[in-house]
Amino acid sequence: MEANVKLLAGKMGIVFGVANQRSIAWAIAQAWYEAGARLAFTYQGERLKENVAELVEGFGADTPMYPCDVSRDDDIARVFEQVRKDFGKLHILLHSVAFAPKEALEGEFINTTREAFRVAHDVSAYSLVALARGAAPLMTEGGSVIAMTYHGSVKVVPHYNVMGVAKASLEASVRYLAYDLGPKKIRVNAISAGPVNTLAARGISGFTQMLKHYEERSPLKRNLEPKELGSTGLFLASDMSTATTGQVVYVDCGYEIMGW
Ligand SMILES: NC(=O)c1ccc[n+]([C@@H]2O[C@H](COP(=O)([O-])OP(=O)(O)OC[C@H]3O[C@@H](n4cnc5c(N)ncnc54)[C@H](O)[C@@H]3O)[C@@H](O)[C@H]2O)c1
Repeated sequence: MEANVKLLAGKMGIVFGVANQRSIAWAIAQAWYEAGARLAFTYQGERLKENVAELVEGFGADTPMYPCDVSRDDDIARVFEQVRKDFGKLHILLHSVAFAPKEALEGEFINTTREAFRVAHDVSAYSLVALARGAAPLMTEGGSVIAMTYHGSVKVVPHYNVMGVAKASLEASVRYLAYDLGPKKIRVNAISAGPVNTLAARGISGFTQMLKHYEERSPLKRNLEPKELGSTGLFLASDMSTATTGQVVYVDCGYEIMGW
């Protein structure tokens, strides 16, 4: 392959989860765009529309943007109807969406209410299933679905609480979706990121200590750069990873391998 061939030339993608320029979704979207993909974006509600519009301005005036609350089936159905009209087909999808009520990320896990448990799983895990089901009929040339996860799914991270349980569900959903969609040449993977200072992360109590801890304890002795999530997102979206599906790829400066 020539060095100047763009890895995502001719690919159509949709990005769920840009809130502002610090969003992980934005880092990955930039890498995809620079690699030649044509992208559409969703935004959670009117409150975020302007932010997202400003960011995607540089991607061309014809960049589609659709409102989507991922806990609403009608919103999801409308998004994929629009994608069908605007692009006709789809190759890549980024799910970079999570939510849990703030009080569930502060105290003890044992106090998680039924409602906080339901909301965290609905928005952060079930939504991947719903989005993959909406996208699959448009991925007629094969595709790549990527979700964002965190190590709190497999180890106890104080205060991450119900979000850790929802991430375990998300990672299991990645595996089951990979099995269902494999025959259609659609791959499903997750990126497990080390801590990144975003809007969502700031909702987790003790987050600043977490950044410091990772810097001290990870083999690479630093925190990750958002553009390193961009490059892994590009690898997983591109034909560089066509035999990789159902995986959780850690981008955490090696923190995950440590026992102590
Ligand atoms: N920041 C970190 O340290 C870190 C580490 C590992 C994984 N992650 C994961 O990365 C993903 C992106 O988070 P981020 O850190 O970029 O924060 P962020 O706040 O920038 O992004 C979270 C996004 O989720 C969207 N969202 C929440 N509820 C929604 C709903 N009902 N419908 C539609 N969209 C909704 C928000 O609008 C926002 O765009 C999340 O899945 C998060 O768990 C983050």
